[in-house]
Amino acid sequence: MKALILSGGKGTRLRPLTYTGAKQLVPVANKPILWYGIESIIAAGITDIGIIISPETGAEVQAKTGNGDRFGAKITYILQDQPLGLAHAVKIARPFLQDSPFVMYLGDNLVQSQLDLFLDKFKSKHLDALTLLCEVENPTAFGVARVDQDGKVLELIEKPQVPPSNLALVGIYLFSPAIHEAIANIVPSARGELEITDAIQYLIETQKNVESFQLKGWWLDTGKKDDLLAANQVILDTCLDSTMAGEVDANSKISGRVHIGKGSRIINSTIRGPVTIGENCQIENCFIGPYSSIADRATIIDTEIEHSVILTEAKVIGIQQRIVDSLIGARVQLKVTPQRPKALRFMIGDDSQIELA
Ligand code: G1P
Repeated sequence: MKALILSGGKGTRLRPLTYTGAKQLVPVANKPILWYGIESIIAAGITDIGIIISPETGAEVQAKTGNGDRFGAKITYILQDQPLGLAHAVKIARPFLQDSPFVMYLGDNLVQSQLDLFLDKFKSKHLDALTLLCEVENPTAFGVARVDQDGKVLELIEKPQVPPSNLALVGIYLFSPAIHEAIANIVPSARGELEITDAIQYLIETQKNVESFQLKGWWLDTGKKDDLLAANQVILDTCLDSTMAGEVDANSKISGRVHIGKGSRIINSTIRGPVTIGENCQIENCFIGPYSSIADRATIIDTEIEHSVILTEAKVIGIQQRIVDSLIGARVQLKVTPQRPKALRFMIGDDSQIELA
């Protein structure tokens, strides 16, 4: 069994963060989204992993994630020159996949880990495809499945205007090598892509065994700011351990589950978990409230924050109104110097959003 993780794409919905980086590397609770996928694949016993990368962000994904040693896996990178669809990615990965069955995992999806149950069903029923489904309120935004009461997939439609059900295709699939013949028999969709949904539909029409597995836990598509904050909240709620590798002075108060990375200094501040703080951060005269993730080397002084994600090397200084529901990019500088500022001076990247509420 192999795994194929897709980590290409442009991440348009997470701009401006994705002008300078891959969307799959945006951190949730200080860990790149992509790594959650890698870890759950490995937890299911699969260690031969191919990652599809794009020319725009491939080098960054590769540099950050490495050859798999840090995870105890073997990672092979496969370059997809153009974003021609999920099925196209499988096609170019054929030399890596050979005739092995495989799990395909979209690198910007986060699910509560259930891969082993999913895998057991695929193997024990000798399926050609097993799709992971989740009930959603807005099925028109996804691939949608019509299934019978036993979970057999009757029909799949990509982004239907009139959805046949509210069961969306989660970006995780299991395939036998029969998928390659299906991909060879489909043509690009209206959006110019070879759709994996069409390839699975071909399997259904040629009487192959295609079943579904309904996800009971959460599924987070981290494509937009609010989704990312929701993902951050769920991960901090479910996966955060209290660890204290940094320094906390006697005037600071820490309560709830809080992780503080090594080299970080907390001075005269209150931190109310769940909160994760990376390495070599400086937090001084601050209130850091629940559901905040602060990445490595951030500096936060005279500021109140909650339910927010702050990326590496950001500097937030003198913001006395509480910062909430915010996503602050890497190396951003946000500074109020006098008590009552007379002017607001900005240099803000394209597609940024500032709201003084
Ligand atoms: C892709 C698939 C779609 C699936 C979704 C899950 O859509 O084509 O069937 O429901 O991922 O995230 P895309 O993200 O390419 O619009």
